[in-house]
Amino acid sequence: MIGAPMTRVDGPAKVTGTAPYAFEHPVEHPAYVHPVQATVARGRVRNVDTAAAEALDGVLAVLTPGNAPRLASTEDRELAVLQSDEVAFRGQLVGAVVAETSEVARHAASLVEVTYEVHEHDAALRADRDDLYAPDKVNPSFPTDTEQGDVDAALAAAAVTVDETYTTPMEHNNPMEPHTTVAVWAGEELTLYDSTQGVHPVRKTLSSVLGVDPEHVRVIAPHVGGGFGSKGDQHAHLVLAALAARRTGGRPVKLALTRQQMFALVGYRTPTIQHVRLGADADGGLTAISVDVVEQTSRIKEFAEQTGLPARHLYAAANRRTTHRLAALDVPAPSWMRAPGECPGMFGPEVAMDELAGACGLDPVELRIRNEPEVDPDSGKPFSSRNLVACLRAGARRFGWDGGSRARRDGEWLTGMGVASSTYPVHALPGNSATIRYTADGRYRVEIGAADIGTGTWTTLTQIAADALGVEPDRVDLRIGDSALPPASVAGGSSGTISWGSTIVETAHVFRDKFGDDPGAGDEARGDMPANPDSERFAMRSFGAQFAEVRVHADTGEVAVSRLLGVFATGRIINARTARSQFLGGMTMGLSMALHEHSVLDERFGHVVNHDLAEYHIATNADVADIDAVWLDEADPHVNSLGAKGIGEIGIVGTAAAIANAAHAATGIRVRDLPITPDKLLR
Ligand code: MOS
Repeated sequence: MIGAPMTRVDGPAKVTGTAPYAFEHPVEHPAYVHPVQATVARGRVRNVDTAAAEALDGVLAVLTPGNAPRLASTEDRELAVLQSDEVAFRGQLVGAVVAETSEVARHAASLVEVTYEVHEHDAALRADRDDLYAPDKVNPSFPTDTEQGDVDAALAAAAVTVDETYTTPMEHNNPMEPHTTVAVWAGEELTLYDSTQGVHPVRKTLSSVLGVDPEHVRVIAPHVGGGFGSKGDQHAHLVLAALAARRTGGRPVKLALTRQQMFALVGYRTPTIQHVRLGADADGGLTAISVDVVEQTSRIKEFAEQTGLPARHLYAAANRRTTHRLAALDVPAPSWMRAPGECPGMFGPEVAMDELAGACGLDPVELRIRNEPEVDPDSGKPFSSRNLVACLRAGARRFGWDGGSRARRDGEWLTGMGVASSTYPVHALPGNSATIRYTADGRYRVEIGAADIGTGTWTTLTQIAADALGVEPDRVDLRIGDSALPPASVAGGSSGTISWGSTIVETAHVFRDKFGDDPGAGDEARGDMPANPDSERFAMRSFGAQFAEVRVHADTGEVAVSRLLGVFATGRIINARTARSQFLGGMTMGLSMALHEHSVLDERFGHVVNHDLAEYHIATNADVADIDAVWLDEADPHVNSLGAKGIGEIGIVGTAAAIANAAHAATGIRVRDLPITPDKLLR
């Protein structure tokens, strides 16, 4: 059962349109909310003239900083919605209209006249700013800086060095389903139908912000149309929906952000400036790895992307250093975007490795194999399993890397091949419980408040439960996506299936110990995620290798990825079908990052100008040619009872570097600043 390519349990409901997403949940006589956003990047709201909006037929209320209900906690300033007149970034919520229809709400919002006291703002990220600071930690709780040995001395003594700066731009998550919340108050009880990566995390945050007993907040999210991290943490619209529903006094409200609103309100991947220095002996053995990162955060809330992290774990070198410095700007707060840290943090170092291979006259695959560490270079602990070298070798064979030139000319097209490594940590998040109940119809009801954000949780948890109970999957009745179910951690950090799954396995053990294989109707057991005694003894990470073939038009610089192969070693695969979909999805998002994605922030206004899908380019079918993902059979007895490592994010890690390296092989032009647009490939 485990590993089988079981088709999606939720497939029929999805394709027949009966799987309810947040906005579609039927509620009694709903009203609709439309936000009003700040049009200045820094200042104060002087006055809000609501007269024209209120005069419109169908308008029920206009919320302003002056009249909005008060929150119990304003500690998280991103969530302190309408609690003060301060404007901290352009696009911040400064009001909202509640109306009979979404059309009236939207029109009325456009009639709200906000006047501002405008202060000078600063939205310019540069590495030479004099106000850069070191955060106390980087996301979620890693040390900001690390240093082993003497990097400067090692670089000075190295036979070969690379010393370059690489940049990745601001990027925005664009799940197909926008961020949506339906809020219903019944007295002091709040129900939210929310598009979220975690119902229990939403309950926790909202109950503390609103000052309501968590037992009085229920969050429901059976199906979610993508999140990629932007629905993993809580954002301002969620609080706005709850406040608006307070104002309607029991009438439910529905709020769906527009695509353009998402570009200011739900986080983004911070832009990064990565100064990478590598030192090696003449044979390509690394003696020094140094990564100094500068990136932005917001003035109201710190988010420190852990961009230096992957370089801490990937290759052996006696002298190593990573640092992170932040510029706090008048911009929205950055947040999670698929593989925060690892994704941008593998671009600079993995392009630098390609440059080092060139400088040493070595095959880039061979260079990486030569620098395989014995133990985790950062902690000195053994890896629970590490198969980077096997991934590189298998990928090289499969991709046709060896034997012959990796660059050729095909008429007007220059073709080249590139490679990069992938890595992602194994995260198991605490706070998970499950219940299993044998019901009168002879089925096992398995309950846990997990999330399926399109990844396949409905299916994989059904498989895991069936396997642990020793029954067919059709005898498992899984229930997820509701905070009334036993607590579950967020679908983030590629932790979901392993955290929830090992909790279900444990619960099944408890159940079978208690009731055996022939239970009676009503028998029920509860279990908690077991502690892993090996988690302190081993470094636990997934690894992979990404191979890309790129075609560049000699005259126009047009660039296309003709082939992409990912080979991954991520422990045991739970479902071959949904796993492949996760890998391919991650790689496609990496291709998108390599060639297209770039949120263009106009520093003069603090505003992302290409804030919709017409102008923020994302890879489409036409961009994805021959793409394949495979994995090695990797048995890891230490990671957890499933032997699985989590696969949601590693697919995006390293892809952009492999593509940049392939573009260099094709053209001889080294692009160190993403995205790789045609202008950068013209001499
Ligand atoms: Mo993912 S960025 O950890 O939700």
